[in-house]
Amino acid sequence: MISDRDLYLMAKKALKNAYAPFSKFTVGAALLSETGEVFTGVNVENSSLGATICAERTAFVKAVSEGSQKFKTIAVVSGEGAVLPCGICRQFMFEFGDDLRIVTGDDADHLKVYEITDLLPEGFRLPL
Ligand code: THU
Repeated sequence: MISDRDLYLMAKKALKNAYAPFSKFTVGAALLSETGEVFTGVNVENSSLGATICAERTAFVKAVSEGSQKFKTIAVVSGEGAVLPCGICRQFMFEFGDDLRIVTGDDADHLKVYEITDLLPEGFRLPL
């Protein structure tokens, strides 16, 4: 059983792999699937700045590529401490369900937990 604290520490460990030469703002994420798998991610910046991908989306893309589409919790942390997902990431994560929990904090003893629907009320879905 992976706790919020475990997940946060995995996100923090991933930070060292962030590629952020432009902003110097490193971000790590750790995404827990419903089956208990963890997919980490980091931000990967690019000389063409708009091509940058955030840590959260890296983790989601890794997970979906490996066959996971149902998730419980994502922990995210920056080199500066707590960080909340950007608007694009909120919509990206909402695609896979409206009950995702988001964990962040300045350190493992001060975690804050949010629900995706609190961070993104009325998220977009195609009316299929
Ligand atoms: N970033 C993330 O990876 N996740 C967030 O939640 C916020 C922003 C990255 C994108 C960019 O590489 C850097 O942080 C500065 O915006």
